[in-house]
Amino acid sequence: MFDEIPTPFILIDAQTVRRNLDQLASYAKSHRIGLRPHTKTHKSKRIARMQIERGAVGLTVAKVGEAMVMADETDDLLMAYPALHPARCAQLAALARDRKVRVAVDSSVAADALADAARSAGATIGILVELDVGHHRNGVQNAQDAVALAQQVDRTDGLRLDGLMFYPGHISHGPPGTIENGLQAVSSKLAEVLDAWHRNGLEAKIVSGGSTPAGRLSHLIPQLTEFRPGTYVFNDVNCIRQGCATIEDCAARIICTVISTAVPGQFVIDAGSKTLTSDRCGPAPESGHGMILEYPNAKIAKLSEEHGHVDATACERRPKVGERVTVIPNHICPCINLQDNVWWHEPGSAPEPMSVDARGKVY
Ligand SMILES: Cc1ncc(COP(=O)(O)O)c(C=O)c1O
Repeated sequence: MFDEIPTPFILIDAQTVRRNLDQLASYAKSHRIGLRPHTKTHKSKRIARMQIERGAVGLTVAKVGEAMVMADETDDLLMAYPALHPARCAQLAALARDRKVRVAVDSSVAADALADAARSAGATIGILVELDVGHHRNGVQNAQDAVALAQQVDRTDGLRLDGLMFYPGHISHGPPGTIENGLQAVSSKLAEVLDAWHRNGLEAKIVSGGSTPAGRLSHLIPQLTEFRPGTYVFNDVNCIRQGCATIEDCAARIICTVISTAVPGQFVIDAGSKTLTSDRCGPAPESGHGMILEYPNAKIAKLSEEHGHVDATACERRPKVGERVTVIPNHICPCINLQDNVWWHEPGSAPEPMSVDARGKVY
């Protein structure tokens, strides 16, 4: 059915996307936690619309360029990334004139930059103070710093203090209880910060957290008002290895062609780092650069830009040149960002191209 589409391309199974969206939407509803999906994974207005139709409270983006695209689909945006440059802040402030725009910040520099832009635009930008709960990427480190930044935001014209944001990216797989214990520690840190805010007369209407691995256990953080999973829409090898998805839950697959079998013990596919990215699998860094469904014992051992070198020594059979294979990538989000279009596949119909609307928005 797909033979006429040249490889490599990303095929999206529409039914699996709908099932993934439905499951998390129903989880969020049953636990009364707002779902604010991170659009970094799909970067597509069509899928954003499907998330909103299923009750998402708004959308999350990482970049101003993404915010400008996703503003077509919602009037409630969170940018979970600090905007510093005046031009970026000005674009966000312009969006904030007629919709809710919130930004997560962990520094007074970022808060000041947004405040200047908001005042010039005659707008108000909502601020979530980002707290480091163990991922050690962004985020104020303790309750004292969270209070100081919140107080600064609270007294600054152009800004509105809305609450707290955190990203539990360090919480993933492990022996039974790993995620539960991790979330318990996050909850304790939040309790400490919220208590300090309360004592200082500060209010957090929003506490925004969540990721795909911790997504369905979000209710273990009672302080949470919303969560921001992104990868759950497609899933990938990271999700499989973390135990939060099965192969059947993986809605995005890269269709490739075997272009060479000349070197003994290996074959080469037409997907290299420009398609699969060089991201390793977090839980199993030595497992190669993705999973080939037709050859489960093969290992995509090495990538050059356009070549995927596959170690086939453990395979019972070898493919022929021209054969197509299906790869689930380690990390789907950056793979989607490398495509102008992906192919949307409804059962019984030929796949149709779907634009990756917010691809390449690095500003
Ligand atoms: C700030 C933030 N929130 C939410 C997410 C979504 O997490 P996941 O990809 O596990 O769904 C990410 C992912 O990188 C993130 O950086």
